[in-house]
Amino acid sequence: MRKIALVLLALCALAACGPADSGAPDQRAALDPALLQTLPAARAGQVLIYGAYGFTGAGISRLAADYGIAPVLAGRNPEKLQALADELGYAYIPLTLDRHDDLVRVLSHFELVMHVAGPYTYTAEPMLDAALEAGTHYVDITGEMHVIQAQLARHAQFAAANIMLMPAVGFDVVPTDCLNLYVAQQVRAPDHLSLVMNTAYQAAEGAVISRGTAKSGLEMLSRPLLLREDGVLVPATEPRVQQREINGQMQTLVQVPWADLVTSWVSTGIPTIEVYQLQQGEMPAWLLRLMRTDWGKALLGWVIDTFFPEGPPPQAQQTRQVQLIATASNAAGDSASAQMITPEPYLLTFHSSLIIARRILDGHWEPGFRTPAQVYGAHLALEIPGVSRQDL
Ligand SMILES: NC(=O)c1ccc[n+]([C@@H]2O[C@H](COP(=O)([O-])OP(=O)(O)OC[C@H]3O[C@@H](n4cnc5c(N)ncnc54)[C@H](OP(=O)(O)O)[C@@H]3O)[C@@H](O)[C@H]2O)c1
Repeated sequence: MRKIALVLLALCALAACGPADSGAPDQRAALDPALLQTLPAARAGQVLIYGAYGFTGAGISRLAADYGIAPVLAGRNPEKLQALADELGYAYIPLTLDRHDDLVRVLSHFELVMHVAGPYTYTAEPMLDAALEAGTHYVDITGEMHVIQAQLARHAQFAAANIMLMPAVGFDVVPTDCLNLYVAQQVRAPDHLSLVMNTAYQAAEGAVISRGTAKSGLEMLSRPLLLREDGVLVPATEPRVQQREINGQMQTLVQVPWADLVTSWVSTGIPTIEVYQLQQGEMPAWLLRLMRTDWGKALLGWVIDTFFPEGPPPQAQQTRQVQLIATASNAAGDSASAQMITPEPYLLTFHSSLIIARRILDGHWEPGFRTPAQVYGAHLALEIPGVSRQDL
């Protein structure tokens, strides 16, 4: 009991307390025939946003019109969905991920599904199965590396169906994927890539992550640590730690299993990839142990849903900035480095996902598993409002 109380206290301290999420999901609701009638008759140019009323889904849905997209909104909770659809004036369809035939039936009305419901450990596969059967392009905003690795294994299926599967069209990994490819293209036969993320470059008050990201984080942290070395993902017992000067100050950097270990390997072909974050405190060993049990994960999920704020407040979205530094090098000792300054990650995600959705609707896509920089090039990230890049 003492341990549980400590967990609650520690997590409450991490997050400013916010209102509980009281919406009870309707897991087995059948498709509403009246709402089915409102789905588009022809799929060209049509987008379904699944998970539309989540923190990030709502941000994307609210911005869609700026990119010339009038989506149909979907998700498993009819009340939350209808409230957002009424606010934005879009059609909507309540839909659960455990009814494959219904998912296929709905997706067959759309050219693209933007799957923004996570943790993707649980949500990715049913939507991928349905997208494949319906012949619908698929994008998501996952950062869960094990999920992306599993998606990569489905490349041949999506290529054969002549549709694109592009995960991670949010902050993970659009800016990093583009920056990594940019430096890789300036070095002959690069064999090493290092990326540093400084999420505290321009700090702001308020929550840093959403509840959905916190729960996806639990899924990532509860799995064995993997590193990319010589073209393969290898397990490690401890993350590497290094000291490096960043912005004129010595900093401690800690290796993190960021999704680029899969996506930038696909985009650049570089066999050894390291991603570091500026150290911002250490996670207690007991918390890590707790995450690695099913009951501990369930408890922490409840704490997140009950006590964490929904996501970064508007003021933080407008002011927070992240710094990324990428370096590619080769065996001859040549190297190229560049930095990117990005806006707040959720605001960036709203834009980056829609920029890519727009490209797909305009006919710019490639069949199979693809990464953002692989299809749209290293300069794609510069289209996102507030992103800048400098050679170092
Ligand atoms: N790549 C990036 O940079 C980036 C940026 C933002 C978010 N994300 C990821 O996107 C996901 C969503 O984040 P968020 O900020 O929107 O979180 P959120 O506010 O907690 O919303 C989660 C959404 O997913 C839905 N959902 C969860 N499990 C579901 C299931 N089994 N079936 C159907 N719907 C389900 C939720 O519906 P209910 O309310 O009905 O449970 C809700 O609509 C997370 O995995 C997060 O890590 C990634």
